Order: sequence, then C-alpha cells, then structure tokens
Amino acid sequence: VCAAALPGWPPTLRCASCGRTIPTDDGILLFTDEPDLNLDGARAYIGYESVADGYAFRRHPPGLQERMSLAYGAAIAAIVGPHSILLDVGCGPAGYDVEAAKRGLRVVAGDISLNMLKILSARLHEAPAASLIPCRLNAYALPLLGQSVDAAAALELLHFVGGPEHVLGEVKRVLKPGSRFITNGPSDHEAPDDDLNAKVNLYYREALIQRGVQLSRPPGWTSAQIRDNLPKFFPNCRTVETESLVFRFCATPQWFLSRLASRYTMFQIGIDQAAHEEALREVRRRMVEQYGPNFEQIEQQYCFTERLVVCTE
Ligand SMILES: C[S@@+](CC[C@H](N)C(=O)[O-])C[C@H]1O[C@@H](n2cnc3c(N)ncnc32)[C@H](O)[C@@H]1O
Ligand SMILES: [Zn+2]
Repeated sequence: VCAAALPGWPPTLRCASCGRTIPTDDGILLFTDEPDLNLDGARAYIGYESVADGYAFRRHPPGLQERMSLAYGAAIAAIVGPHSILLDVGCGPAGYDVEAAKRGLRVVAGDISLNMLKILSARLHEAPAASLIPCRLNAYALPLLGQSVDAAAALELLHFVGGPEHVLGEVKRVLKPGSRFITNGPSDHEAPDDDLNAKVNLYYREALIQRGVQLSRPPGWTSAQIRDNLPKFFPNCRTVETESLVFRFCATPQWFLSRLASRYTMFQIGIDQAAHEEALREVRRRMVEQYGPNFEQIEQQYCFTERLVVCTE
C-alpha cells in the first residue's frame, strides 16, 4: 500500500505522491484494505464492524439520534464555517457529518470500519454532490498531505484508540496552521434516582462477569486524561456549551434491553452470543423480581448535556 494521499477538492482519486488510483467501494475511498487490523490489542480493536448496525441505529431512542446528529452537525458547521474542508477522524455512521455537509462544509469522513462507512454512504444523497467523501482510513496514518485541511474533528475517538497521541500527531500534521480541532468534551447525564437503564446495564455486566466473560475496556484516554493531555497538543482549548446540545428524552427498560440485545456498544465487541443471550435473560429475571412483570413499560426521563471542545495551536 502506498502512502496514498488525497489531493484537491473534489478529490481526484489519484494519490498525490505516486499517482496510483485509489480504489473505491460503494463510493467509499479505500486507503486501507486490512480486514481486521489489530491496532489496539486483540480485545480492544477487532470488530468495530460487528457493532456498526447497533451503534448507528440503536444507540439512542427513536428520534433522539436524528436530533443529536442535527445539533452536532449545526454546531460543527457554525464553528468551522461554510466551504471549509473538515476532516472527521473515526466518523462512525457520521450522521452529524451529513448535517455539516448540508450546511456548506466539505467533509472527509474517515473511519477504519467499512460497515460504519457503508451506513454513511447510504445517506450520501442527502448532502450536496461531492460534499462528503467517506474514506476507509487508519487514524494512525492519515492519507492526507500535510497542512491540507481547514479543520478536523474526532468525536468519541480518543477514548477508543490505543494511541490517542499518535492520532493527535497526525491530525496536527494535516491541519493548516491556525486551524481548529474539535472533539467532544465532558458530558453530564441526568437520570432519575432509581435509574432503570443503569440497573439493566449493571445486571447485564454482572451476568457476563459471572459467566467468565472478560469485559473489554476502551484502550484510549479517559475523560480526565483527555482534559490533561489535549493542551499538550493544542494549547488553546475552550469548551462550547449551548442549549442546542442539551437533549431531554423519555425511554423504557424495554427500549434499553432491545438496545443491549442489538450489541450497540464498543464494549460488547467479541462477547460470545450464548453468554450475551443468557445475560439478557438474567437481566429480565432480576428486573421482574424487583419491579414486577410489567417493568419493561416503566417510562423514565433522562437528559444529556453534551459539550464540544474547540482547540487551536
Ligand atoms: C465510538 S465510535 C465514534 C463514532 C462517531 N465519531 C460518533 O461520535 O458517533 C469510534 C469510531 O472510531 C473508529 N476507529 C477506531 N479506531 C480507528 C482507527 N485507528 N482509525 C480510524 N477509525 C478508527 C471505529 O471504527 C468507530 O467507528
Ligand atoms: Zn501513492
């Protein structure tokens, strides 16, 4: 594999260093073809592919995902400004990139997972033609020329990569001088005192541990490490708080259980299917014992206060 570099806009599909034509699949530019790169240790990385559907479609209750994508996309577009080229590293299904592209940004949406990118490419028609370029790429070796993008974003990525400092080094290399880097900041989650979602998650984890399942932990930085380390790469960081990033919603244990069943989260990567199903049965049994047979219908109110961190050198 050459160090294929994406030149110009719209990209020409020819590597800017060697002239090789960059292969594509379903409108996705393929800068890496490793089926299952093991970048971050066996239990940490392998299998983003297997959680892509759950992550894209079951992570938040119906309607909330769309509201969040829209709010994030609008907030990013407002920070970056129209016509700018934004690189989004670890874009996932990237609903917010679609919204940012609708607002005039030109987005290079990069992820290592082809399944995540296929979910994004099914939505490309919603954005203006050639405004959003999905790329299968490795954040540790970005296929972009130095000083080639006007802004970069990495949302929910620094927790999930084993080498966040390498990713930030690469991001700095491809950013034009003085450009912004956007990541997500600390968020607050308000839940009722007797939070049934927290119980469902706790019982699921406990049941898995009882069955000898080793739960993987994200290999990257904790929120505290992000707060402490980010200024070493970008000395000027400010946290953006707006009412548009406050999300109130109602949900039931029925919904939270169906979400867990769909394997929506990175920590469910690699869990054996039989143990997963037994754990779900165990959760139901304990919830019925505590809350009665209709526990699944109990509706509760939640609120996420999300924040963005905007950094410059
Ligand atoms: C928690 S998801 C975040 C997705 C999206 N940014 C969001 O906020 O919803 C993390 C994403 O990072 C991707 N990822 C992990 N390691 C990567 C790497 N080395 N290079 C590129 N993408 C990576 C995963 O495939 C996954 O889609
Ligand atoms: Zn090349």
